[in-house]
Amino acid sequence: MRAVKIERFGDPSGLVVAEVDEAPPGPGEVLVAVEAIGVGGVDAVIRRGTLSGFGFEEGLIPGSEVAGTVTTVGPDVDPTWVGRRLWAFTGTSGGYAEQAVARVEDITALPDGLSAADAVTVGSSATVAHFALVHAHFAPGESVLVRGAAGSIGIAVVELAARGGASAVAVTTSSPQRGERLRELGATHVLDRSGHGAPDAPESYDVVIDIVGGPATADFIDRLAANGRMVIVGVVAGMPPADFGSRLLASFQQSRSFATFSLDTVPVAARNPARAELLASVARGDLHAVAHDVLPLDQAAEAHRQMDAGTVFGRIVLVP
Ligand SMILES: NC(=O)c1ccc[n+]([C@@H]2O[C@H](COP(=O)([O-])OP(=O)(O)OC[C@H]3O[C@@H](n4cnc5c(N)ncnc54)[C@H](OP(=O)(O)O)[C@@H]3O)[C@@H](O)[C@H]2O)c1
Repeated sequence: MRAVKIERFGDPSGLVVAEVDEAPPGPGEVLVAVEAIGVGGVDAVIRRGTLSGFGFEEGLIPGSEVAGTVTTVGPDVDPTWVGRRLWAFTGTSGGYAEQAVARVEDITALPDGLSAADAVTVGSSATVAHFALVHAHFAPGESVLVRGAAGSIGIAVVELAARGGASAVAVTTSSPQRGERLRELGATHVLDRSGHGAPDAPESYDVVIDIVGGPATADFIDRLAANGRMVIVGVVAGMPPADFGSRLLASFQQSRSFATFSLDTVPVAARNPARAELLASVARGDLHAVAHDVLPLDQAAEAHRQMDAGTVFGRIVLVP
């Protein structure tokens, strides 16, 4: 089958199309004929070689999110999955291929009418967004600030917070054009990346969902209202400085909270029904799947170039 490998770590030119052997599904696994592949931020991090100290080696097939049809199941897997269309998490590798293997606990059947491209645009990101808001104890009537809102996770946070009755949904983004698109998805106030630039925006927020991290993380702790909760779900600008937590302590009398959130900590029994409901919301038109571009699999390097250039709004989808 055709797949894309990271032939060498570094810039996107290290991604090459290769002919590789199909791996049969093992116990507890299914084999998927892939129709669409979600290009995630973590794929670019792996491609650059940033995670080479964590066991990632050149030669791997990147990609963690696909949608398609089950062709074969491994031992002990319910054979009625064969022929069904589904969304699948493939782990930290294996997605950029015509066929992909996934564990049965990491698959979710597609609702009728949902395209594979839409499924990989929201399957992971909206689930992260949903549980990040749960982790932040978001309640209707509260104000929310989404930092790094123009990515697929941020867009889903904006829509879910607006749909969940937020009193305000402020977003940080790098341009007025991106801000306009976020307004169409439910943002009420558009801020620049530093969190300023909208005089009518609330000064402080009950919930901050941060996908950016990096040197300015503590500035957003300062934007929390009394009893406000900040949840960091991504670090696209890098790790915060080591002493960033001192700002939390400096505002001791505000009873603010800071937390990290990883979907890995959500039990499968909660994660999969939530994902199924989110996919159904997209099929009904209640939630948007915002794909920046749909490209053929052999243009994976171009997809990564666009990601590195910071021009992507939402998600890029590859099709084999
Ligand atoms: N917690 C979990 O369970 C989980 C699961 C999957 C992924 N993740 C993490 O989520 C992150 C990727 O999420 P994503 O795909 O939604 O994000 P993304 O598209 O890579 O980035 C989101 C937005 O952040 C802004 N941004 C980029 N660099 C910035 C910088 N240096 N300073 C300020 N803003 C910047 C950009 O928007 P503007 O240009 O408009 O500002 C960008 O569109 C990764 O860190 C990944 O590891 C977490």
